[in-house]
Amino acid sequence: MFARTKLSAFSLAARNARTAQASTVRSFSGSRFARSGAIFVHRDTPENNPSIPFEFDAKNMAEAKVLIGKYPPQYKKAAMIPLLHLAQKQNGWTSISVMNYIAKFLEVPPMRVYEVATFYTMFNRSPVGKYFLQVCTTTPCELCGASQIVKTIEKHLGIKVGETTSDKLFTLVEVECAGACVNAPVISVNDDYFEDLTPEATVALLDSLKAGKPVTPGPVSGRRNCEPLGNQTTLTTPPPGPGFMLRSDL
Ligand code: FES
Repeated sequence: MFARTKLSAFSLAARNARTAQASTVRSFSGSRFARSGAIFVHRDTPENNPSIPFEFDAKNMAEAKVLIGKYPPQYKKAAMIPLLHLAQKQNGWTSISVMNYIAKFLEVPPMRVYEVATFYTMFNRSPVGKYFLQVCTTTPCELCGASQIVKTIEKHLGIKVGETTSDKLFTLVEVECAGACVNAPVISVNDDYFEDLTPEATVALLDSLKAGKPVTPGPVSGRRNCEPLGNQTTLTTPPPGPGFMLRSDL
């Protein structure tokens, strides 16, 4: 009995020491909590409350039926993301009414839709401007001057990241890799990418959008898609014919 008590005391002391050591290590390498109530919390406002009606227009209703038709009837909730996307396109953003409508449409509790819409940052749960500017600031774009692009937009439009211009034309946000790193730096304007940007090209783009002039998505450097920026570096000679590098007696 005595031995067990002594052993327990010893184990307890050892465990406390390990815990203390572990917590020291954790606090040394731990990162700051991201506390953003804006990401998850909904509060009714005059422009975002459940009494504002929303329903698909005729065209989107037809498309929604096609989307749902891709799944067995008992799994139609699998169409939730494309349906939310469709509804956001129609409404301009994903309001509480949009989410409630999709829940009703899919016959699921509204919470199931809230969970999805709050998880994916692509669903804008507050109004955005006519031109939604998403600047990629992940490493490859950053190395190619993304910070400069952000500063240029902020200065030219007079807004900060996360804000919308007073004329409701532009909303500016920073995003993680847009998947077009080879053409960095990149911003997307609604569904279109503008690549190889420079501060001057960015200002020209913003001015054209503001003036309602047509803009051409893609690299502003003049290169086609993601071909090399300089001269061609591969496939510069005619390809060798059949038998290349083979023994002559074969
Ligand atoms: S890092 Fe910007 S597109 Fe990938």
